[in-house]
Amino acid sequence: MNPYEVAEAFHKLKSEGKVLHFGVSNFTPSQFELLNDHYPLVTNQVETSILQRSPFLDGTLDQCLRKGIRPMAWSPLGGGKVFDELTDETHRIRKLLQELTQKYEATQNQILIAWLLRHPSGIHPVLGTTRPERLQEAIKATSINISREDWFALLEAAEGEEVP
Ligand SMILES: NC(=O)c1ccc[n+]([C@@H]2O[C@H](COP(=O)([O-])OP(=O)(O)OC[C@H]3O[C@@H](n4cnc5c(N)ncnc54)[C@H](OP(=O)(O)O)[C@@H]3O)[C@@H](O)[C@H]2O)c1
Repeated sequence: MNPYEVAEAFHKLKSEGKVLHFGVSNFTPSQFELLNDHYPLVTNQVETSILQRSPFLDGTLDQCLRKGIRPMAWSPLGGGKVFDELTDETHRIRKLLQELTQKYEATQNQILIAWLLRHPSGIHPVLGTTRPERLQEAIKATSINISREDWFALLEAAEGEEVP
């Protein structure tokens, strides 16, 4: 990527009224910085879920927080793998989810979305469901405030070890 060329193209598209805002996807923090230095970006859409936790640890979400940019999470439910894939990780997550669904009177989807929404960077989850009823169900996640302890309990369940 040549950031000068990309920024020039963005300026042209914006001035022609063809695009209002520009975001990027799957950018590392340094790639984001490189382009953002030449053109202000509004989001970085990255794979983020209980099964894909890299953005929490590799500086991606830290960067969004620092710049006041809201990230987008693609595959926020792990593409459904969290529900139907049988691994030690998904087993531990589902076991804890059973407790949390009772505690918060919510479905597993709602808890997992609320878990993303609780992050201070203001994650926008990009749901991939093809069912309108699941979208309706997801809306309730916006009113579930997962406690910090439960947030980290889910992280620990996914990691399979205590978080210091
Ligand atoms: N920027 C990128 O590089 C990139 C890459 C990939 C995807 N994306 C974007 O991200 C969007 C979402 O990705 P995604 O589809 O992986 O999102 P997702 O919301 O993590 O997964 C959706 C899948 O999970 C299933 N699911 C949801 N709740 C379930 C439940 N309770 N039990 C069993 N299965 C359940 C859905 O089935 P149902 O349809 O039956 O509900 C669907 O197959 C895509 O549409 C695309 O726009 C972006």
